Amino acid sequence: MKTLLYVVPVMLLLAVNHPGAHAQTATRTVRLFTQGWKFYLGDEAAASTASFNDSRWRSLNLPHDWSIEQPFDKNSPTGVGGGALRGGTGWYRKTFTLPATASGKQVYIDFDGVYRNSEVWINGHSLGMRPNGYISFRYELTPWLHYGNEKNVIAVRVDNSKQPNSRWYSGSGIYRNVWLVTVNRLHVAYNGTYITTTGITPASANVHITTQLEAMVKLKGPVTLHTVLYNDAGRTAGETTTEATGLSTGQVQQITVANPVLWSVDKPYRYKAVTTVLAGGVAVDSYTTPFGIRYFEFDADKGFLLNGKHVKINGVCDHHDLGCLGTAINTRALERQLEILKAMGCNGIRTSHNPPAPELLELCDKMGFIVMDEAFDMWKKEKNPYDYHLDWDAWHERDLKDQIMRDRNHPSVFIWSIGNEVNEQWDTADVSGTKIARELVDIVHALDPTRPTTSALSSPYPFNPVVKADALDLIGYNYDNHDLPDFHTRFPGKKFIGTETVSALETRGYYYPWWNTDSIRRWPQRWDKPLVGGNIDQGVSGYDNVSAPWGSTHEETLKMFKQYDFLSGQYIWTGFDYIGEPTPYEWPSRSSYFGIIDLAGFPKDVYYLYQSEWTDKPVLHVFPGDWVRKDGDSVDIWAYYNNADEVELYLNGKSLGVRKKENGNLHVLWKKVAYEKGVLKAVSRKNGQTVLTEEIKTPTGAPVIQLKADRVHIKADGRDLSFITVKSTDKAGNSYPMDGDTVVFTITGPGVIAGVDNGSETSHESFKASARTLFGGMCLAVIRSTGQKGAIHVSAKVKNVHGPLFKVEGAGIDIVAE
Ligand code: GAL
Repeated sequence: MKTLLYVVPVMLLLAVNHPGAHAQTATRTVRLFTQGWKFYLGDEAAASTASFNDSRWRSLNLPHDWSIEQPFDKNSPTGVGGGALRGGTGWYRKTFTLPATASGKQVYIDFDGVYRNSEVWINGHSLGMRPNGYISFRYELTPWLHYGNEKNVIAVRVDNSKQPNSRWYSGSGIYRNVWLVTVNRLHVAYNGTYITTTGITPASANVHITTQLEAMVKLKGPVTLHTVLYNDAGRTAGETTTEATGLSTGQVQQITVANPVLWSVDKPYRYKAVTTVLAGGVAVDSYTTPFGIRYFEFDADKGFLLNGKHVKINGVCDHHDLGCLGTAINTRALERQLEILKAMGCNGIRTSHNPPAPELLELCDKMGFIVMDEAFDMWKKEKNPYDYHLDWDAWHERDLKDQIMRDRNHPSVFIWSIGNEVNEQWDTADVSGTKIARELVDIVHALDPTRPTTSALSSPYPFNPVVKADALDLIGYNYDNHDLPDFHTRFPGKKFIGTETVSALETRGYYYPWWNTDSIRRWPQRWDKPLVGGNIDQGVSGYDNVSAPWGSTHEETLKMFKQYDFLSGQYIWTGFDYIGEPTPYEWPSRSSYFGIIDLAGFPKDVYYLYQSEWTDKPVLHVFPGDWVRKDGDSVDIWAYYNNADEVELYLNGKSLGVRKKENGNLHVLWKKVAYEKGVLKAVSRKNGQTVLTEEIKTPTGAPVIQLKADRVHIKADGRDLSFITVKSTDKAGNSYPMDGDTVVFTITGPGVIAGVDNGSETSHESFKASARTLFGGMCLAVIRSTGQKGAIHVSAKVKNVHGPLFKVEGAGIDIVAE
């Protein structure tokens, strides 16, 4: 019998692709639900009711992080580790209407992440609460909705008041996207598809699609699934139609793709599966799942093989804050981070220490990164008094399952990490860590048997209770650099992954002339004791010669990973500086020194070490990158280079000698070069031929500032960004690194200043301002489109602190929002 279940009108709502697996179709509406919210910082019990008057609350668009708007505060309950920015309790409300045509449908609200302890109400009815601040979740709204002119109100209470609950800056609020999903009663379930590939040869690959359906109605006729695979160019790569028998357990379909193009880090090629659900022959849902075809293996001796070829995982760990934007997710800001990392030769991301925003995985799929998708920073044993250990018993199973279900179609995800340095690892007499590790690995493997599990171990020994579970597919090392060669003595026959490495410390552009830059310091001297003998201004040498005592310098670790194939790869702590955890200092420092790139997104010198090792791009990077000192100063000059045999350095035409990388070293050094003003010139040569030349000149005349935008054309969508870098130079462009001079920005046209920064770890200036001091001769302004098209003009003036002889000229730049 042919049964028409529903009439399916096309809804003309603003729709965008959900970064997960959804797309806008005639039968499914996915609406970005981030515009026009009301916000109140504080608690207000009555705000859950529909009739509550929120007209005096602040209007804003999501994603939103209220902590980044707070002043830095030494006494913040979040602690300096949490970035000295306050948490608290906040409320969000949104009033909306739904067309009469939506009646009879299913309506859901999807939150990508709310930090933390959220409770959600629709029209005064509580839908539930979710403690985990990093997990994505869905609520059904249907039974409580009004249609037509009658209004609906969503209210969200976010409770981040119990502190400390994090070892890093968490942000607070609805800091990721929110979606309103309208579907028919019979539809593909939330995260309801799972795609795997087998039998991959150059001639063909088998694609297996499992689709879970949800039927909120009694079915009267047959249900069929019609799945079409499309290649990157939109051409059909295969299709099949299947009668669906097991609705909620999942219907399996198989399609063979001829001559598959494989996904790799260099060519991140994707297919998509579009599944149409037909009830009695009528299409009632259509669901898109992007996926990739690739195979890989971790080998105990050979390391990591992707599509049969050896690839070293050259990855970084990152936390989720976006510097001056806080944790409020922004796709362009994430994309910029990944572009900077890709240009360095990085090919991996560890989402330390939590499930990431879906947009990050979408970008990693698209740009070619090998992701370690991590679940937890703690299990049942606490790291902080109010952290997730309190929610462990009630929520860990649900949270882990939801994470795997959400992320398992991403070709970029290769490894699941069930935990980072959990405290269960320390107590060898206690078996709870062993039990939990087994339980978690079983949960992961039941939902995704295609990827290995690991746990990041700071005690990587066989007697570690987490290792004793004998459940981990990869032994995850956090640090222990010196012992890496002995891995197989400790773990015969096992497979290795460097879950976390390095923890070196640098301040961008910070050079201490009186140090021996080739002597290595461990700061603080002991992990549990404050630093003795730090710098008064709380800077750390910009040369690669300081690390945390549990870590190593960049070069120390890189040498190890170069040497041994069985070291499949590493995730360096960290790609970018992040807010919080300001090792080796305490207040007034409030952000980390671990990044290869600073908080503003400006590379530190060591960025070029990686670029010289991990890319074929010719590199000659000489530093310090400015030539302004006092006569009589002596300066150590370092250089990173590649594609050459040697580098010669000249000062004002006089050779200071030729240096070659020797004894496995990855940099060259000219010690104690006596400063004299003029030109420092480096020439790299291969077989006597010049490869690259770099000149660093003493600036002349008064400084000016230069503005450079990463993009001068942005989308007029209210979300796109242009990152403007300000540099102090002389008129000819020679670096003139000024500190403490304030750059004041003014903006006209359809743009706003979304944030400012300069990469200093100690600055207490607000990130949400229209002025920023120069630090190491640089600062940043992030411009966001307001949503209107038009020309945006940004001008920058320097508050003159040096008197008329040293007047800094301003500058401007034009951006087009289109
Ligand atoms: C690790 C830890 C990271 C971070 C890092 C700093 O032990 O897993 O979250 O704290 O140390 O070096």
